[in-house]
Amino acid sequence: MVNISYFLLICFCGISTFELCSANQSCLNGRNENCVEGKSHEINKYSKEANSKYKDYLYSVKRARDNYIPCEKTDCTCYEGTITSDLFTFKDGITQELIDSVKTKGTKYQVISNRLYRDKNCMFPARCAGIEHFLLELLPKLPDLELIINTRDWPQIHKNYGAFGPVFSFSKTPEYQDIMYPAWAFWEGGPAISLYPRGIGRWDSHRNKLGKLGNSTSWSAKVPKAFFRGSRTSSERDPLILLSRENPDIADAQYTKNQAWKSDADTLHAPPAEEVPFEEHCKYKYLFNFRGVAASFRFKHILLCKSLVFHVGNEWQEFFYSALKPWIHYIPVDANASKESIRELVEFAMNHDDMAREIAENGYKAIWNSLKLSHVSCYWERLLSRYAELLSFRPELDNNLIEIKQK
Ligand SMILES: *[C@@H]1O[C@H](CO)[C@@H](O)[C@H](O)[C@H]1NC(C)=O
Ligand SMILES: *[C@@H]1O[C@H](CO)[C@@H](O)[C@H](O)[C@H]1NC(C)=O
Ligand SMILES: *[C@@H]1O[C@H](CO)[C@@H](O)[C@H](O)[C@H]1NC(C)=O
Repeated sequence: MVNISYFLLICFCGISTFELCSANQSCLNGRNENCVEGKSHEINKYSKEANSKYKDYLYSVKRARDNYIPCEKTDCTCYEGTITSDLFTFKDGITQELIDSVKTKGTKYQVISNRLYRDKNCMFPARCAGIEHFLLELLPKLPDLELIINTRDWPQIHKNYGAFGPVFSFSKTPEYQDIMYPAWAFWEGGPAISLYPRGIGRWDSHRNKLGKLGNSTSWSAKVPKAFFRGSRTSSERDPLILLSRENPDIADAQYTKNQAWKSDADTLHAPPAEEVPFEEHCKYKYLFNFRGVAASFRFKHILLCKSLVFHVGNEWQEFFYSALKPWIHYIPVDANASKESIRELVEFAMNHDDMAREIAENGYKAIWNSLKLSHVSCYWERLLSRYAELLSFRPELDNNLIEIKQK
C-alpha cells in the first residue's frame, strides 16, 4: 500500500525543472525526489507536460485507493449491487403482459416445477446451450418463472425509445435497461475465431491455465510493451494500432481478420496479423482491452496474465465489472483517447513500475478469487430468485415451448 509521503513527492517532482531521469525511475518509490519523469529523447517541453499529466494520474490512483472498500465476501454477493440496480426498473412488479410485450427481443424460457422449457428455435443454438448449462444445473433450486433471454450481442431495451420490458442481455451500457446475465461464453458458444474454431471454450479451463501462467511469469521478464491483437470491430482501436506503427518500441498492436474482412482496408491498410492465443498475451507487461460489438470476453482472460490491463471505455458492462475498479484493478482509458494520450499513459506505467505491478496483481486477484464458475452459477441463482420475486403472476406452462433436458 502507498504511504502518505508519496503524495508530497508528486509535488516535488512537479516543481523541479528539467533534470532528466532514466526511463524506469519513479517518483513514487521515493528514490529520486528531484526528477522530472520522461524519457531522455523527449526533452523539456514534452516532459513538463507529461509530468503534469502524471500528477493527475497519481492523484487518480491515490483517490481510488482512498475510496476503495474491498469486498470480503467469498460467494457471489460482491456482485449483488448489479442485480439490485438492474432490477430496480422493475421494482413495482413484472406482469405477464409486460413480458409478452418484449418476447420478440429474445428467446422465451420458463421454469415450471423444476423443469426447463424454451422456444423451439434459438437464434444462436450454441449460445442457448451455454446459458442452459447453468439453468439446468440450478433447476432443483429455482422457483417457477418466465423470462426472455436475448442471445444477440446487442442489448434491446433502450431507456429513451423502443420497447420496454424485462429482457436479459449479457452486456449493456448505461443507456439500456436490460438485465445483465452471465454470458453463455463462460460455458460454451463463445466467439469462434480461426484460433478457436469451436469457440473460445470453457472459462474454468482458461481460468486454470491462465491463472497458473500469470503466477509463473515474472513481472520483470515480461516484454515492456503495450500488446493487442483483435479485429477492427470498432474504430476506437485505431489510435493504439497507429501508435504501434509509429513506436514499435512502445506498442505491438495489430489488427487480425474477422469474417467481414475483404481487403487490407479492413485492417487499417496493413496486412492482417495472425491471431494470438491468450497465453501468448501474458508475455507482455501491458495489455489493452477494447470493447468489440459489446463488452469483450477478452477482459477477464487477460486480467489473469498478471500484466497491467488498460481497459478502454467504461460504457460497456458485464455483470462482474462492478467489482473491478479503475486505477485499482486496471488503468482506465477514455474510449475516445488519442494516440498521444495512449502513449502518455503507457509511458506513465513504464515510469511507475512498482505501481503498475501492484495494479496488475490486484486485477489478477479480483478475477482469480471472485470469478470462478461457482460464482457464475451463484450469480444466476441470485438473479433468478430475485427476478422471480418480482413476477406478479404465477407462470403457467406455455405449450408452444419445448422441454430442455440435460445432454
Ligand atoms: C532501471 O533501473 C535499474 C536499476 O534500478 C537499472 O539496472 C536499469 O538499467 C534501468 N533500466 C533502464 C531502462 O533505465
Ligand atoms: C497464484 O498465486 C496466488 C497467491 O500466491 C494464489 O492464491 C493462487 O491460488 C495462485 N493461482 C494458481 C492458479 O495457482
Ligand atoms: C472523450 O470522452 C470523455 C468522456 O467519455 C469526454 O469527457 C471528452 O469530452 C471526450 N473528448 C473528446 C475530444 O471527444
